[in-house]
Amino acid sequence: MAYKIAVIPGDGTGPEVVAEGLKCLKAVGEKVGFKYELTPFDFGGERYKRTGETLPDSAIEALRKFDAIYLGAIGHPDVKPGILEKGILLRARFELDQYINLRPVKLYPSVDCPLKDKGPEQIDFVVVRENTEGLYTGSGGFLKKGTPDEIAVQESINTRKGVERCLRYAFELTRKRNKDKKLTLCGKTNVLTFAFDLWERTFHEVGQKDYPDIQRDYAHVDATCMWMIKNPEWFDVIVTDNMFGDIITDLGAMIQGGMGVAAGGNINPEGVSMFEPIGGSAPKYTGQNVINPIAAIAACQMMIEVLGEAKGAKILEGAIIEVVSQKLKSMSAGRMGYSTSQVGDLVADAVAKA
Ligand code: IPM
Ligand code: MN
Repeated sequence: MAYKIAVIPGDGTGPEVVAEGLKCLKAVGEKVGFKYELTPFDFGGERYKRTGETLPDSAIEALRKFDAIYLGAIGHPDVKPGILEKGILLRARFELDQYINLRPVKLYPSVDCPLKDKGPEQIDFVVVRENTEGLYTGSGGFLKKGTPDEIAVQESINTRKGVERCLRYAFELTRKRNKDKKLTLCGKTNVLTFAFDLWERTFHEVGQKDYPDIQRDYAHVDATCMWMIKNPEWFDVIVTDNMFGDIITDLGAMIQGGMGVAAGGNINPEGVSMFEPIGGSAPKYTGQNVINPIAAIAACQMMIEVLGEAKGAKILEGAIIEVVSQKLKSMSAGRMGYSTSQVGDLVADAVAKA
């Protein structure tokens, strides 16, 4: 059987980094002996400009039939902010019910970290971000728009079902990681006394009943930012809502070496999941062969893992670590000491030699 993988290279540098990820996928497939079929989709800014289409209903139905989706980046300088993000990325997450956004924060050896006295030993945790609710649902609206009395309301939607399935996923992951067996709920119970009351009650109820082996910890989101800088070693798994997860994972990306390294998985454990580098389309570097493809390769690694190829994922991670720690001069675009495609070659070679 061959895995069916949909590929959306997307905008800006998306196609360049996706090409390197696919190079590594090929190397891993050959190494451990799995087969796959790639189907490209041209969703993104160019298609939108040409046809006015973002992600049509027919595309959603088509994407449901795949085993995984591999995404480059969405975002085009000529398209008003929000259209492609909402129309493609968020629509895919919502329609395919990818209710977990999994974002590992792991500093690899020899990668520059802006934190003094912190290294790979201290920076190794995972953020489980709720991915279909919170402030992202589009619930709300304007009253008296454009007048001096204008009112804008943007509501945070938190359902018991959505909160509980996210928490359960995080508890399971904490158990599976088997590191500190500690799950931190990141919230704002001192101000958001409805939303995070639901999160906190569900957290303790589910934890007490079904995960007594997992230590339950809580931090407000502002304090979480502080601890991520001051004592990142305190974290094993962090679970949080959509908006807070968005914010703290950019901070997480910075302490793991930057946007060139950070990968994410939009996971539907019962359906089709989508994997992406979290750094965006970086339009100013488009076509220059200078962007760092490691985040996209790491996203490919997550995809291989979720497809069920644990051994292949392990080999690819080993290859990434080897290349970033022994070859790359920097994780920043244009300063790696190698071009985008050379970095892909290095990782693919390391996989072949593993
Ligand atoms: C991310 C991005 C998206 C988000 C944007 C592009 C809609 O920032 O994946 O973190 O806010 O989720
Ligand atoms: Mn973000």
